[in-house]
Amino acid sequence: MNTTKIDIPAEFQITAPIHQKAYLVNGELKQWHGKSTEVHSSISSTFDFDPTLLGSIPDMGEPEALDALEAALAAYDQGKGIWPTMHVKDRIECMEKFVVQMKTKRNEIVTLLMWEIGKSLPDSQKEFDRTVAYIYDTIEDYKQLDRNCAKFQKHEGVYAHIKRGPLGVVLCLGPYNYPLNETFALLIPAIIMGNTAIFKPAKHGVLLITPLLEAFRSSFPKGVINILFGRGRAVAAPIMKTGKVDVLALIGNSKSANALQNQHPKSNRLRLVLGLEAKNPAIILPDADLSLTIDEVISGTLSFNGQRCTALKVVYVHEDIKEKFLSRFATAVDDLKFGNPWEAGVKLTPLPEPDKPAYIQELIDDALSKGAKILNKKGGQHFDNYIWPAVLYPVTKDMRVYQEEQFGPVIPVLSFTDIEKPLDDMAESNYGQQVSLFGTDVYTLAPLIDTLVNLVCRVNLNSSCQRGPDVYPFTGRKDSAQATLSVHDALRSFSIRTFVAFKDNNLNNEAIRRLLETKLSNFVSTDYIL
Ligand code: G3H
Repeated sequence: MNTTKIDIPAEFQITAPIHQKAYLVNGELKQWHGKSTEVHSSISSTFDFDPTLLGSIPDMGEPEALDALEAALAAYDQGKGIWPTMHVKDRIECMEKFVVQMKTKRNEIVTLLMWEIGKSLPDSQKEFDRTVAYIYDTIEDYKQLDRNCAKFQKHEGVYAHIKRGPLGVVLCLGPYNYPLNETFALLIPAIIMGNTAIFKPAKHGVLLITPLLEAFRSSFPKGVINILFGRGRAVAAPIMKTGKVDVLALIGNSKSANALQNQHPKSNRLRLVLGLEAKNPAIILPDADLSLTIDEVISGTLSFNGQRCTALKVVYVHEDIKEKFLSRFATAVDDLKFGNPWEAGVKLTPLPEPDKPAYIQELIDDALSKGAKILNKKGGQHFDNYIWPAVLYPVTKDMRVYQEEQFGPVIPVLSFTDIEKPLDDMAESNYGQQVSLFGTDVYTLAPLIDTLVNLVCRVNLNSSCQRGPDVYPFTGRKDSAQATLSVHDALRSFSIRTFVAFKDNNLNNEAIRRLLETKLSNFVSTDYIL
């Protein structure tokens, strides 16, 4: 065995494993003395493949989960808690304190993103920076929301002072592919709106949360944010069973979302903010600009190895352009550079899930057995922690790669002559997140756009599918999502309209005048936050 160390730039080396023992409950970083689970990277540090030990995390269970729930409930205190009743500007101050501390952890978190989930250096940096920007944008949007509410309206002799209030306790679970960004895109709006939260990081990308524990502890009142480690089944399920969670915020798959939802004894009370699976198609029309289309379909199918809910997961190409597209596309896939995340120009990186290459192989075998071919020379080649993306054609609807959300490097291609075929498939699909439409003739595009916007929630014209910019609405139809996320929409998803109303008479008008003058109420306030 060749145990010689590979050359890793000094700033990205893991010098010592991180054995994480602390977890955050009720404003206290408690020490864990129970069993731990090792965290390995699928990136080898030596020439012969050997997953790198990154550290370990607590393997928590029901008692700790219920402690965290109690802390979140106490901090909310049936709406009487310090946090849900706090003035908006004071909650914003806590969030600003947090983000200032978070920014000091950039290098540590970026390095862990690369090792834990194999994300390339530029994409890891982007994930961090995008999250920081998201927090600042959320603060600005919340200020604007509050300003818009700094008034009274009157209808039919009744005045109203309408704002948005928190919902209660939020259980927040994020995905492994964006362990920082997507998780915080739930957690940050949830907290800032006055809810309290219990957060459990995803299966992969968990150590990278640990540099932020102290920032969370010192920025928010006790119990507002509680952070647990362990398996969803052991930690999230007991919390849901109590029926005391008001919002389930989850980005992941519908199987976990359904299982957790079903544990809640009063499903009518449970609000859901969910980002789930998708099978976004690319539809390539005969007059598509080929070079641009190939670039966009490469990035759509293979950015972060296709491990994005927004990835293009099935490609429909018109018969008239099929030959040209497929030969150039297959070459472009084979020209991509595979390597460790910190290597310059790398596009394909190790897969964090050890069993993913075998799963992708199963999809390929199934497709080949039903008549598909691999069009690119490297397609399906195995490495210790990778399988080269296979371009599969012709794919049919009975193949697993058509039916399942592959969430990895394999590209199923179908051809069509009648545009009704991809449209019918989309209508029949369980998913409805986004589509990419490639073409130039406006007479063809117009009716297609008008139909596609009703099948999905974002039509990307000559562009790959993506969530960002984060100010745009991110949602989906059918099994793809519930509620809408964006900087703006997330503040609404985690809150409810609530207001003070009063009949127009001297007694009430005087009471309101005094409330505003004394500034005794944090809710009845027309302060304009700058
Ligand atoms: O996993 C799904 C993410 O929301 C995708 O975000 O389109 O910015 O990569 P992205």
